[in-house]
Amino acid sequence: MSVDLLLKYGTVIVEGKEYQRAVAIKTGKIEGIYKFGQEPEAETVISCKNKFVLPGAIDIHVHLRGMNQSDKEDYISGTRAAAAGGVTTVVDMPNSNPPVLDWESLETKIQNARAVRYVNVGFYAGIPREVSDFDVDMAKNILGLKVYPHSPLTEGITYDDKRIKECLTLASDLGLPLLVHPDTSKPEAKSDSIEGFFNIHSCQSEIDSVAKFIEALQGLDNEARLHICHVSCAASARLITKNRAEERLTAEVTPHHLLLTGADFSNEDGTAKMLPPLRSPYDNEALRTLLSKCGIDIVATDHAPHTSGEKLSPFLQANSGIPGLETMVPLMVTEVFEGRLTWVEYLRVCSSGPARILGLVGKGVLSKGYDADIAVVAKEEWSIMGSEFQSKAKITPFEGRKVLAKPEITIVGGEIVYNQGKFVVGAGNVGTVPVRSLIQLRNT
Ligand code: DOR
Ligand code: ZN
Ligand code: ZN
Repeated sequence: MSVDLLLKYGTVIVEGKEYQRAVAIKTGKIEGIYKFGQEPEAETVISCKNKFVLPGAIDIHVHLRGMNQSDKEDYISGTRAAAAGGVTTVVDMPNSNPPVLDWESLETKIQNARAVRYVNVGFYAGIPREVSDFDVDMAKNILGLKVYPHSPLTEGITYDDKRIKECLTLASDLGLPLLVHPDTSKPEAKSDSIEGFFNIHSCQSEIDSVAKFIEALQGLDNEARLHICHVSCAASARLITKNRAEERLTAEVTPHHLLLTGADFSNEDGTAKMLPPLRSPYDNEALRTLLSKCGIDIVATDHAPHTSGEKLSPFLQANSGIPGLETMVPLMVTEVFEGRLTWVEYLRVCSSGPARILGLVGKGVLSKGYDADIAVVAKEEWSIMGSEFQSKAKITPFEGRKVLAKPEITIVGGEIVYNQGKFVVGAGNVGTVPVRSLIQLRNT
């Protein structure tokens, strides 16, 4: 037997331990993992000596922008950023311009992304003012429904118990999770001071929002699923942990909320302005602990690109959001190399956990029969430099940070996309768009 591609001499994680193994790939799938001397013949052989062969990261919280915001990011730059960062699947948020509230905008995104993709791309949709106006025909092409209780996606809607339950029920009827940006601040609340910004988007606001959504979830007897985005505060993370219900209530944390604190930046500095804001070392510590204890399921970047001009403005005018696709794998694998995260935890929070939450059967695990979506990562010290990003967003709060892991080769569906700084396929040739869940569609 001969396979298409053999990744030889690399280090593979098996039951949490490092082993030298060969990974064989055939027709886009992992054909097998072999001990030295037992590997099959292959058309192409790549030596991964001294490198880690890992499942590609799956980032379920990405703003790819495009359309009217292509100056911030487009599907080429965003998916190239993913590939360069060792991320093989991204899931795009609906707060684009135009927003994804109807089939037309979703279809535009799908067509645009399909034409120029470098990785797998899935999508979320928002929920219109009248929940009953949601076009259920969109369901099979999306992976979840996203709501922003405080924000522009659907302006002026109050997320009271009734609205939250309607949204949870709609998602549940479609077999999809409801994702929430937890923040109770009023959309019209504008801060005219830096303190005002932090007061509006306080931990209390996050906790109150998480509490309201959990209460609504628990008041439903259907199979509604709720996913809490970018948990940033110790108390909200604890509230989630206390109410955890496997599959029904899940949560994510970003690398920046795990690794940075507000005190690392001057209050005038828009570089690290994001929603939710950076919190305290106490919150960092709690988030880390609860991530390890499965109180928080996964890591997701909230890759939210803006132009340099928009980020370098004075704090109040600067846009919220930072790029994350090219820093997640380096930062999180560094956590492993420095002993603060185990390999088992890394694989769960960056690959298998995200796949489980969105029902991406066949993804997120480096094992026989799974999709050959792979990140080959070298153990190498380097410093993060925004100017080198593939993303159009070059301003990162991790600028200059030393990391110990460098994504070197990225494989999507068995095809090498990126190899040591170079893209070796053209745009639009590899990856699936849209990525679909295989465990949805009850009522469609
Ligand atoms: O900082 C943020 N930026 N938080 C969000 O929730 C939205 C995002 C964006 O789209 O820019
Ligand atoms: Zn958000
Ligand atoms: Zn976001």
